[in-house]
Amino acid sequence: MKGIVFTELLEMVEDQYGYALVDTILDQSNLPSGGIYTAIGTYDHGEMVTLLHSLSQHTTTPVPELLRAYGRYMFGSFTRNYYQFIERSTSAFSLLNSIQHYIHVEVRKLYPDAELPHFAMEQPSENHLKMYYQSERKLSDFAYGLIEGCLAHYGETATIRKTELTPDGSQVLFDIVKD
Ligand code: HEM
Repeated sequence: MKGIVFTELLEMVEDQYGYALVDTILDQSNLPSGGIYTAIGTYDHGEMVTLLHSLSQHTTTPVPELLRAYGRYMFGSFTRNYYQFIERSTSAFSLLNSIQHYIHVEVRKLYPDAELPHFAMEQPSENHLKMYYQSERKLSDFAYGLIEGCLAHYGETATIRKTELTPDGSQVLFDIVKD
């Protein structure tokens, strides 16, 4: 997992809860990396799971809720750091439709070892999009927050229905209907 995923999570924790909590969760997590992340480095996905569980205990917020908030936060970071991928789209559905065949393809060129999900897309009508998420990392709640962040970025609102397609959380359908 790329370092940016860790550095942005720790930044969100600092913004929302203060640096003392960042210090506490890093101290308690006993991470192989020692909690020192660079944006271009690659780290074990297990460190993310450990950090999220520690954060969940200290904030009494369930992990899925933390991941969703983190996804919304991360989209804001993408609009600052990867604006070139976002400016090509003039609507949320256009951007979401471009993840699999454009954005994540470019991400892979920048970071050949990136671990990215697969999205199959269906658009039954102009206001209705279906995203089929698939990833062994089971980060669909992070995807959920990214979708929310994307809609907010374009000033759009929609009803998002999430359905688990497999019991392990590796395949999830997001059914998104614009209001
Ligand atoms: C400019 C826009 C975007 C950029 C630059 C971007 C880039 C990235 C990067 C760098 C990673 C981490 C890869 C790794 O840790 O190895 C990632 C993972 C991920 N991205 Fe994107 N992404 C963008 C938009 C989106 C959007 C809109 C979604 C919404 C559904 C999305 C869904 C995900 C998910 C769920 C992961 C976690 C990995 C997994 O589930 O397997 N991305 N992306």
